[in-house]
Amino acid sequence: MWKLASHWLCWFLIFTYVVKDVKTEFKTKRNALLIVADDGGFEIGAYRNKICQTPNLDDLAKNSLIFNKAFTSVSSCSPSRSAILTGTPSHQNGMYGLHQGVNHFDSFNNVESLPKILKKNNIRTGIIGKKHVGPAEAYPFDYAQTEENNSILQVGRNITHIKLLTREFLNSTLDKPFFLYVAFHDPHRCGHTNPEYGQFCEKFGNGEEGMGVIQDWQPIDYQWDEVQVPYYVPNTEAARRDISAQYTTISRLDQGVGLVLKELENAGHLNDTLIIYSSDNGIPFPNGRTNLYDSGIAEPMFIFSPLHKKRRNQVTNSLSSLLDLVPTLLDWYEINKTVIITKQILTGKSLLPLLVKEPADTSKEAVFASHNLHEITMYYPMRMIRTQRYKLIHNINYGSSFPIDQDFYLSPTFQDILNKTKANQPTGWFKTLKNYYERPEWELYDLKHDPSEVINLAGKPNMEDTLQELKSRLIDWQGKTEDPWICAPHAVLEDKGYYKNNSLCMDLDNLW
Ligand SMILES: *[C@@H]1O[C@H](CO)[C@@H](O)[C@H](O)[C@H]1NC(C)=O
Ligand SMILES: *[C@@H]1O[C@H](CO)[C@@H](O)[C@H](O)[C@H]1NC(C)=O
Ligand SMILES: *[C@@H]1O[C@H](CO)[C@@H](O)[C@H](O)[C@H]1NC(C)=O
Ligand SMILES: *[C@@H]1O[C@H](CO)[C@@H](O)[C@H](O)[C@H]1NC(C)=O
Ligand SMILES: *[C@@H]1O[C@H](CO)[C@@H](O)[C@H](O)[C@H]1NC(C)=O
Ligand SMILES: *[C@@H]1O[C@H](CO)[C@@H](O)[C@H](O)[C@H]1NC(C)=O
Ligand SMILES: *[C@@H]1O[C@H](CO)[C@@H](O)[C@H](O)[C@H]1NC(C)=O
Repeated sequence: MWKLASHWLCWFLIFTYVVKDVKTEFKTKRNALLIVADDGGFEIGAYRNKICQTPNLDDLAKNSLIFNKAFTSVSSCSPSRSAILTGTPSHQNGMYGLHQGVNHFDSFNNVESLPKILKKNNIRTGIIGKKHVGPAEAYPFDYAQTEENNSILQVGRNITHIKLLTREFLNSTLDKPFFLYVAFHDPHRCGHTNPEYGQFCEKFGNGEEGMGVIQDWQPIDYQWDEVQVPYYVPNTEAARRDISAQYTTISRLDQGVGLVLKELENAGHLNDTLIIYSSDNGIPFPNGRTNLYDSGIAEPMFIFSPLHKKRRNQVTNSLSSLLDLVPTLLDWYEINKTVIITKQILTGKSLLPLLVKEPADTSKEAVFASHNLHEITMYYPMRMIRTQRYKLIHNINYGSSFPIDQDFYLSPTFQDILNKTKANQPTGWFKTLKNYYERPEWELYDLKHDPSEVINLAGKPNMEDTLQELKSRLIDWQGKTEDPWICAPHAVLEDKGYYKNNSLCMDLDNLW
């Protein structure tokens, strides 16, 4: 035996084993968990909601940096999720509207996405819940339990099922760093697809007859007269009942987050995993989802890092975008973004420096948004820039009525507005349907004096300089992100053939 042990091969094996061990120890220290709520997620204690009970999210927020000014780049599910996963706006990655059914939108096949980039860097990727993006080759997760081969209710709302899938993913990911995307379907509406479970599927799995059981869920019922009604939702019984159902599913989401975090802890990964909580778009209420007003684009967001302890339970007012998530994750995994991203410019920035220090001056910051469609019939392209002080929206299809989607249309909140408007009764809403449908080409708001965005300053002579400055920053971003709509609606973009090296907006002479 001694003779054998001194053989060079044996020393070689021992040596490489030791080296490998040191290397894996460094490598396995960087995992990430991205938790995304569906259509909302602000209704939690960390964002000063005093009624909806969310102890797990509140605990996570206490250990995180809380973002007060985080925004999606588009208030629509598939486009937003494609932007989250690619770091590019929907006009650049091709996901112009919803992915499912007749809508049929997809990103470009060759778009760079987190699952592609991370895979190349030997990081195992998993998705549990709502995927809602395609094509498959653009988003190749190693582990996928999604609506593509499961019931969305099971993978997106059954928190016991989600817990077991999380356990399965973590258990099958022992040798590599991982990225896990848990995409809850709560608190999305469901009255239009599964009316038997209630407006928000709040009865699914609650143990009542025919509803089934979700073993780990303690359903919480909310009184409609106690909920907090946001300023942009009418303060009516119909809307309040809608909100109370939404709260029940937010509390289910919260308990689901608690279970997922417990699995992470049991697997020994609470100390090496970056945890990000956010949502895809605004709530499915009037002036919310599909709008670029703050009520449609503001997102909850907090980031827990095991390596950044300084700013836990602090708030940042720096402007951030869901377009920042790809750069943030590349930074976390220490992936050189110039090597990986050769095809697409990322206009976002890593958010990790904010976990160390608040920038001294945030006054020059801006976030951008770009909406094209939601459902296939809802062509209403808009572009937006938001600074700390101002918001400029360009309604490219301003000649047309603002479109309404089918699940929001059927909601009691909207039906109530519609019924009362038809009957010439007060709606209790801060807008009329007419001014909601009919929008001017440019909307400019002073968010300091008019946070609910109702006084349009576009066209006011004393605001001309501000408008021009914002417009030029917006067009600059559209150029950088290769926006096909950059010349719309008063000109045609010519950028091929003779104009390849000198693209031009050519006038349509349609301004009258
Ligand atoms: C869904 O597909 C994945 C592979 O992408 C597979 O591992 C999983 O078992 C499938 N789930 C179901 C319920 O078929
Ligand atoms: C993983 O699953 C196997 C059996 O499927 C079990 O024996 C093992 O304890 C699990 N490991 C972890 C870390 O959960
Ligand atoms: C939720 O998932 C668990 C585990 O898969 C299952 O036993 C239970 O029946 C599911 N509940 C519903 C309402 O489908
Ligand atoms: C995390 O904790 C586990 C067990 O408590 C320990 O083995 C591991 O080294 C820790 N990892 C880091 C990155 O601190
Ligand atoms: C990233 O890659 C580029 C191109 O190869 C290189 O110039 C740069 O120094 C790298 N940056 C880091 C931090 O390694
Ligand atoms: C709106 O009116 C329709 C038709 O009269 C009625 O069926 C519905 O219940 C009303 N909805 C609300 C929320 O008032
Ligand atoms: C565009 O520029 C490239 C490189 O500068 C040149 O080779 C090409 O001929 C130019 N194309 C046109 C249409 O001018």
